[in-house]
Amino acid sequence: MDDALPSFSFAVRGAVADAPGPEELRTWDDALVLVADDGEIIGRYDADDPIARQIVRERADDVRQLSPNELLLPGLVDLHIHAPQWPQMGRALQVPLEVWLQKHTFPLEARYEDLEFAKRSYRDLVETLLANGTTTGLYFGTIHNEATLLLAQLCLELGQRALVGRLAMDNPDECPDFYRDASTRAALEGTEAFIEDVRALPGNEKATVKPVVTPRFIPSCTDSCLEGLGELAEKTGAHVQTHVSESDWEHNYVLQRHGKSDTQSLSDFGLVNRHTVLAHGPMLSAGDMDHLVEQGAAVAHCPLSNIYFSNAVFPLRAALAKGLHVGLGTDISGGPSPSLLENARHAVHSSRMLEEGVDPSIEGDARGTPDSRVDFVTALHLATRGGGIALDLPIGSFEVGHRFDAIVVDIAAPGSNIARVLEGLSVADRVQQIVFNAARQNIAEVWVEGSQVSGFRHK
Ligand code: GUN
Ligand code: FE
Repeated sequence: MDDALPSFSFAVRGAVADAPGPEELRTWDDALVLVADDGEIIGRYDADDPIARQIVRERADDVRQLSPNELLLPGLVDLHIHAPQWPQMGRALQVPLEVWLQKHTFPLEARYEDLEFAKRSYRDLVETLLANGTTTGLYFGTIHNEATLLLAQLCLELGQRALVGRLAMDNPDECPDFYRDASTRAALEGTEAFIEDVRALPGNEKATVKPVVTPRFIPSCTDSCLEGLGELAEKTGAHVQTHVSESDWEHNYVLQRHGKSDTQSLSDFGLVNRHTVLAHGPMLSAGDMDHLVEQGAAVAHCPLSNIYFSNAVFPLRAALAKGLHVGLGTDISGGPSPSLLENARHAVHSSRMLEEGVDPSIEGDARGTPDSRVDFVTALHLATRGGGIALDLPIGSFEVGHRFDAIVVDIAAPGSNIARVLEGLSVADRVQQIVFNAARQNIAEVWVEGSQVSGFRHK
């Protein structure tokens, strides 16, 4: 009689890769990943390991065998999504941020008072994100408690791990009458009630959906609102999200109003801690970054959105060199794609443009910022484990003890843009091709917390 096997629910066998660090790619040609009933990864073996062989022999029905075209990757973690902006994704990008907000975005977000509209839009968004491999989403909702709670419920129902924030926006100087919290008190009480309501949602006993304290950004909030939100973050232990030093206009607005940078200001209001995710940040100073590193806070790098609204490229490599936690965000709809892989490749592209510079009238050796480039390994890390670290959650790699949030990528899927000439390719080669060219049709299966939640096979 063989030794007793570890107790598990199912296993996945085949080619596997993950990127636990910004410059660390791990690949397995043939691995067996063991998942427990509760969705935890409890083992990872080379397929020729004696235990793996015994599992394949004795529990064949519980082993999901990947095809030679398939690869198991960690699920994608999108650190910055404006859920209500989904209907305008791919439109209105011709104006600067401050005009875009007032003219296009606030009127759209105000419509989420209508719960029927909210339900239709949010369901379509969450289904689309899942189909693109996004297993965890960090969402901005609107100022409406009901519609934002509905978003949290939909994430629960559709099986996406999510962190959801009800926006606080109470500053009459920067927010229109038709889309503003009625008072500072309304913003604070609304936020506190939302935190309690998400935590009490039926079916959320494992807290796969979490509430987030969400001042939209400093311009939208009064000082007393920011102060109250800092106190709420401390009292409830909830995550915090907002925008930081996103554009010249926004960065200078805060310098003028508070006489200090966004980072210093948010920190003084108690809004920068280990569970804070700050979106964008191209104008962060070296000192700001040092402070974020000290606090363990993270940046959601949104390379596609930054092209339109940020006036500059986020110095990703310099941030990583400081040890700053960085993940990726689509910033729907500032970024015109729901695909985090699209943003992963743009993280590489924009880092190359930063390194080379963009103005041909400047001599080559003075044109760019040296040592700025990152490669596909860093991009994959940001899209997966970087996001997990930012959120302080055990997701984003195939480490034993992590949750099984994963995607099966079929690089030869029908309609795919990846060359179907696969002979002689290593797993690392295939990962590289996926980062640069995989799209929705390549995402064959999507798993969250050990359950399949999207994809066209095995459901
Ligand atoms: N700053 C404040 N609100 C927003 C928003 O909705 N999108 C982006 N990109 N920046 C913002
Ligand atoms: Fe944003």
